[in-house]
Amino acid sequence: MQDIRDFLERAGLVPPGEIPQFEALTGGVSSDIWLVRAGAARYCVKRALGRLRVAAEWHADVSRNLTEVRWLTQVGRLDADLVPAVLASDASLGAFAMEYLSPDRHELWKAQLARGCVIPETAATVGRRLASIHAAFAKSPAAPDEFDTGASFHALRIEPYLLATARVHPDLASILGSLAERTERTKLTVVHGDISPKNILLGSRGPIFLDAECAWFGDPAFDLAFCLNHLLLKTLWIPAAERELLASFDAMAESYLRGVDWESAGSLEQRAARLLPALLLARVDGKSPVEYLTDDASKDAVRRAARSMLQQPHDTLGDVRRSWGARATRPDRRQGAMQSDRIETVIGRRVWDSRGRPAVEAEVVLASGAAGRAIAPAGASNGINEAVDLRDGGTAFGGLGVDRAVRHVSADIGDALRGMPVMDQEAIDRTLIELDGTPNKSRLGGNATVAVSMAVLHAAAAARNVPLWRHLAGDAQPLLPMPMVQIFGGGAHAGRRVDIQDFLVVPIGASTFDEAIAIAVRIYESAGAIMAGRGGLRGVADEGGWWPEFASNSDALDTLLLAIERAGLRPGIDAAIAIDVAASQLRHDSGYRFAAENRELTSDELIDVLLQWCRRYPIVSVEDPVGQDDHAGMRSFTARAGSHLQVIGDDYLVTSAERISAAAAAGACNAVLLKPNQSGTITETKAALLAARAAGWSSIVSARSGETEDVTIVHLAVGWAAGQLKVGSCARSERTAKWNEALRIEEALGDRAILGRLPVRQLLWTKATT
Ligand code: PGA
Ligand code: ZN
Repeated sequence: MQDIRDFLERAGLVPPGEIPQFEALTGGVSSDIWLVRAGAARYCVKRALGRLRVAAEWHADVSRNLTEVRWLTQVGRLDADLVPAVLASDASLGAFAMEYLSPDRHELWKAQLARGCVIPETAATVGRRLASIHAAFAKSPAAPDEFDTGASFHALRIEPYLLATARVHPDLASILGSLAERTERTKLTVVHGDISPKNILLGSRGPIFLDAECAWFGDPAFDLAFCLNHLLLKTLWIPAAERELLASFDAMAESYLRGVDWESAGSLEQRAARLLPALLLARVDGKSPVEYLTDDASKDAVRRAARSMLQQPHDTLGDVRRSWGARATRPDRRQGAMQSDRIETVIGRRVWDSRGRPAVEAEVVLASGAAGRAIAPAGASNGINEAVDLRDGGTAFGGLGVDRAVRHVSADIGDALRGMPVMDQEAIDRTLIELDGTPNKSRLGGNATVAVSMAVLHAAAAARNVPLWRHLAGDAQPLLPMPMVQIFGGGAHAGRRVDIQDFLVVPIGASTFDEAIAIAVRIYESAGAIMAGRGGLRGVADEGGWWPEFASNSDALDTLLLAIERAGLRPGIDAAIAIDVAASQLRHDSGYRFAAENRELTSDELIDVLLQWCRRYPIVSVEDPVGQDDHAGMRSFTARAGSHLQVIGDDYLVTSAERISAAAAAGACNAVLLKPNQSGTITETKAALLAARAAGWSSIVSARSGETEDVTIVHLAVGWAAGQLKVGSCARSERTAKWNEALRIEEALGDRAILGRLPVRQLLWTKATT
């Protein structure tokens, strides 16, 4: 130890009169590492392991230590954020001192993943940063000599991973041998050699790379495959985060490949895609198996997936990821389930929705004979980022036929789901997502996938012989939703007679669901009477609200307020107002346009108008106040109104967990509208709900303007305890079907029924100004 103390003093790292204190930390492959405290200074010292072992090993250890110093120094010069700063080094000792990154400000990526916190954006940054390091070294003329460490890389990586594995799988020996040979022969840039979540520290500087003892001038595909391999394996370690891990895999691969400028990204991707299955197998049967894969079933799953990919290699990383998702995990989950709970048939059927348009119905039948059925709804004001509602085009039914989507249900989807346990909704939805293979369900159709996904839920509940809401709630407390009931329709639902799409009431004073709907009905009746009195009754709009025969948007709001009062109710106490601006529909040039009032507005002016309304009327909730692409407007409206009322994202968030988390981080919205057909599966809808909950937001399960007798969403709202439900008005049976189902559930719950509430806030509305 004295030699280390001398080294630190020589380097000026020990203030005069101080005695450095050493605390041992967990080390690297072949090093000791200490946290050193010397006066106020804190830093780490890393030293090749002691000389107790044979001289040859000691020399290898010292030279690895020097390689690491060289790597850290050069990467630090490229971008100081990427690595801990090297403070001093001593070649003869095989030791160096570097910046200490304290654990209260940094967390190992592996530890973060282990907590179930899996953020694809982190993986994307790791990929981007790794590519930037590879790109810089590829341009360095000195790098081939400075990192001429082939012997060490062979001993630490090629031998224990690839060649040792080949000895366990002799039938694959020639494939593994040629992968080893190609990797060693490909000399393009400096490889880190140990890129994995345990060697990446996360903090305010972003991902920081540690432990470069294996650095080598060689094949960059190794680093990419090595790290991606960890993400795949972690799906077995943290199955609850499988989706996010696979998304992280995609994010990392994509951002890395975008940064490849020293060769063609395609050829690098191909080498990584070939090498990855070999590394997978190596982590089970090589010399360095992963510590968390202990049970034989998981190991077998890895072997099966890896072996099949080695025999039939993929050229893209996307294919590797899909193969992994399909082969490694699903067969295992298929075991265990009762034979009778397996899916036997999926039937697709064309039925009709409330606008007289074709709709997709799916029916899922189990081996036991139990079955479930669901129909996909359809929107009029679809967000651009929604799952695609697949229509046939052509002339029949105005191009809105669903024959293709119906065929997908019966054929492709039916084939893929046959034999799967109905209780494993996540695996089923993942299969749908993978089978579709597009980011927006455009191949199978979101209408096909959501109908099947919901039908699977119904079949699962039928198999257990419990109502769906109970099946969904499990041991958790179910919650009746506070209804949000449309009184006047507008926008795209009423020939754009007025601009605002929904004028709704929320019966905030009700204490039961039954009472809540009765309050809404009283307001609906009195609004109808007012319209009739003015000679303005023209029937109803798409969601059952009165047809909006108004001079302006504020005329509609005045009438709504009057209707509440005429019903003998107290505005803001018994019932409050909600609006859905659906502002994406009002987009015009760079701003917005109120067509009914022949008035153009900038984003700021629109926000000002909405805020004026919020002061003049008892408004508790505003949905899509600005367009789906107006991020600045959404942040601005949320900043000005969000502490007073609910700011809902519908088209803006499209039931996407990712968008919700991003919006929450940016301060846009404080509530989400959950429409299963926007995401295309139940699992993704649930993920959106959980993301909203994690952000402290409220959630409103919602129907679409094109609906049917299907009542799945009511069960979702109750079983998931979402808190609120929006299904249109209290006229037209596709609407009342939902309210009526909630009434039945409330009755079944009896004393245990609780009604959800809007978060209590101080409204902007002051009665005096009305
Ligand atoms: P949509 O409208 O179903 O026509 O998209 C409903 C809503 O915007 O809430
Ligand atoms: Zn909406």
